[in-house]
Amino acid sequence: MSLEGKRILVGVTGGIAAYKMATFVRLLKKQGAEVRCMMTPASSDFITPLTLSTLSGSPVGIDFYNPKTGEWTNHVEWALWADVMIFAPVTASSLAKMAHGFSDNFLMATYLSAKCPVFVAPAMDLDMYQHPTTKANLDRLESFGYTVIPAESGFLASGLEGQGRMAEPEVLLRYLQDHFQYDARFSGKTIVITAGPTYEAIDPVRFIGNHSSGKMGFSLAEAAASKGAEVILVSGPTHLKTSHEKIRVVRVTSALQMLEAVQHHWDQVDWGIFASAVADYRPTVAADQKIKKTAETLHIDLEKNPDILSWASANRTAQKVVGFALETQNGLEYAQGKLEKKKLDAIVLNEMGEPGVGFGTDTNSVKLIFKSNKIRSFELQSKQELAFSLLNELMNNLYE
Ligand code: CTP
Repeated sequence: MSLEGKRILVGVTGGIAAYKMATFVRLLKKQGAEVRCMMTPASSDFITPLTLSTLSGSPVGIDFYNPKTGEWTNHVEWALWADVMIFAPVTASSLAKMAHGFSDNFLMATYLSAKCPVFVAPAMDLDMYQHPTTKANLDRLESFGYTVIPAESGFLASGLEGQGRMAEPEVLLRYLQDHFQYDARFSGKTIVITAGPTYEAIDPVRFIGNHSSGKMGFSLAEAAASKGAEVILVSGPTHLKTSHEKIRVVRVTSALQMLEAVQHHWDQVDWGIFASAVADYRPTVAADQKIKKTAETLHIDLEKNPDILSWASANRTAQKVVGFALETQNGLEYAQGKLEKKKLDAIVLNEMGEPGVGFGTDTNSVKLIFKSNKIRSFELQSKQELAFSLLNELMNNLYE
């Protein structure tokens, strides 16, 4: 898990986006983090302390003094506990306090005791966000070495539209993953990753395709970017999106387009990871007009698509090349055959038929086979987690 054992202190202030923090805390816990939440008194109008304490599995800090137990909560101890602090949402008022050191509640006192990295996700109405005071306060936090997670554009609670919405919980999570997963060995490397299916046109409305969702390729792209690599993600048709600034998405439809995109970038990359399910054949001719159902039987001539992975391997200078194999029987044997035939550095074997494995699922369990014949098995886990594990293992072995 990408945040296993990390201690994350989450500070919630009184903006409507506070309701999203339930999701955020869930995401953190799913990644194995230890979470404690702090709230300003005003934020409990938007989300209850009970919600956050239940989800985090830990008491929530609001006041210095708890009149029910007679106990004092030590803000310095809370601050020292944290590996990172993330404040989200941060209202204009709390932002001003953070920028100028006003310590008038438990959350602010803890913030002022921070010795760890601090992340700040502002949320306010668009005019407030544009105000020079806000900009100056955000600049000031950055000048302290803190990371500002910019507000996003969209519909605001005021009914207006513009920049001011708190970044989505998935984006907040990504900033923390980038922080903890950063691996200097990936920095300065560019990786091309293919993902998703290809669609091969039969006529303007029909195609030959497959059930690949693109999840494994997108997860690999996100993980590689979190580790510090630049990623060129060549994706076939999928509804998946990514907003990571280190990922350039090149959207294609057919195998020929995917090949062209890989060829275009191949000289600039250090690795290629080929996770897409490329259609092996395409219709020899795609009809210009929709085919009418007049004939009783219909034959479509197919011709073989180029093998993108084989092209990349044959045209490498120093690039590392990693393929995928999806097999229904004799998995190890077939995958090893592909590894040799396509002259790969490593191949990831998916064995269809096991529960939770393969197309469209959120989880996967695979074997990673190196050209040295070393084999590493990965238990069933989410595709996101698996992506981090695979990249670690590849990096540990490919540059030996
Ligand atoms: N691949 C590719 N271009 C193709 C076909 C496959 O780049 N036209 C890549 C896939 O992205 C994957 C690997 O090759 O990384 C294995 O694909 P697979 O279809 O299993 O291999 P084939 O050699 O086509 O074998 P078969 O379909 O007979 O199992």
